[in-house]
Amino acid sequence: MNVKKIAVIAGDGIGPEVVREGIKVMDEVAALDGTIQFDYTYFPWGCEYYLDHGKMMADDGIETLEKFDAIYLGAVGYPGVPDHISLWDLLLVIRKRFDQYINLRPIQLLDGATCPLTNGNKENIDMLFVRENSEGEYAGAGEWLYKGKEEEVVLQTGVFSRKGTERVIRHAFDIAKRENKTVTSISKANALNYSMVFWDDIFEEVSKDYPEVTTYSYLVDAAAMYMITDPGRFEVVVTSNLFGDILTDIGAALAGGMGLAAGANINPERKYPSMFEPVHGSAPDIAGKGIANPLAAIWSVSQMFDFFGYETRGKEILDAIEKIMVEGNIVTPDLGGTSTTSEVGDRIVELLNETM
Ligand code: NAD
Ligand code: IPM
Ligand code: MN
Repeated sequence: MNVKKIAVIAGDGIGPEVVREGIKVMDEVAALDGTIQFDYTYFPWGCEYYLDHGKMMADDGIETLEKFDAIYLGAVGYPGVPDHISLWDLLLVIRKRFDQYINLRPIQLLDGATCPLTNGNKENIDMLFVRENSEGEYAGAGEWLYKGKEEEVVLQTGVFSRKGTERVIRHAFDIAKRENKTVTSISKANALNYSMVFWDDIFEEVSKDYPEVTTYSYLVDAAAMYMITDPGRFEVVVTSNLFGDILTDIGAALAGGMGLAAGANINPERKYPSMFEPVHGSAPDIAGKGIANPLAAIWSVSQMFDFFGYETRGKEILDAIEKIMVEGNIVTPDLGGTSTTSEVGDRIVELLNETM
């Protein structure tokens, strides 16, 4: 039996609600498969923990997590704790310390999902964002001088290293080459005259090693426009940390909403655990009502199966998500339905039992 040790950080708001359904699905798929099993350890870290302990995670949190095969995370952040503290001391520290420098965010319009574009369809909304996830605008380098004074100055410095930029671009090319797709780089060299000129240079340099891959390069403002007017241009997309954050929320909107947007924070060398989490946050506006859409969190579970080498299982989970969308009668209010979070999870489990 292949036993995988999973650290579960359900987190805040709807995090625990969607993670519960994700774990339901993981266990069912493992039982149906028969060769893999999950051993979960739950960590109560998040904003409530912060209010009780004055910190977002235990002091030895990173050392503790390092021993796991993967981390499954719900969402972090809640009113009452400043966002820059809750996110920097938990989510972002994990991404950085475990060198999860690849953030894979599929943007795929499934059958049955509603696209706000009149011309959006399954063929032209099918992208994979490869977001830089370890540095760039999220390096956390900066200074806050003369706080509250007239001379007050804040600096937020982007940090783009050759190693960090090259490895994410190379990763995107490797995927594109394997899947016979194009690669699009999104940057902003006209205004960001150091970092993005550098980014474009490295993209150009790396592309020479992949002569068989067709490339495109857009400025981020134009790219945001094309995602709406002509989304079919994008296949594999590589971009910086901040641009990737923003553009994948546009992507989520294209593919049916935040309730369907999945993500994986990958350490490709597998030296450290990778982390699987939906793109959405803790959704304080609907937290505690039992109506959060768990499909994004379940899609992240599909990515976890892929990561563990169980691609067939990953595909079966994605197919079950598509089936529930096509059926359309057991979906949460964000998708126009009246079902609860757990009813959606239960139906996914039934669908998996019918097909696996
Ligand atoms: P959000 O993603 O939590 O919510 C944005 C909107 O989408 C809300 O209207 C919400 O109800 C809806 N939504 C999100 N997920 C949904 C789901 N699964 N089902 C149904 N509706 C869903 O973003 P926000 O409101 O900007 O942020 C709330 C908090 O979450 C903040 O503290 C923020 O910093 C944090 N956040 C955390 C993560 C993360 O942990 N990965 C990601 C984004 C935001
Ligand atoms: C995301 C989130 C995070 C990010 C925040 C909560 C720090 O928005 O995962 O998309 O910007 O990476
Ligand atoms: Mn985001």
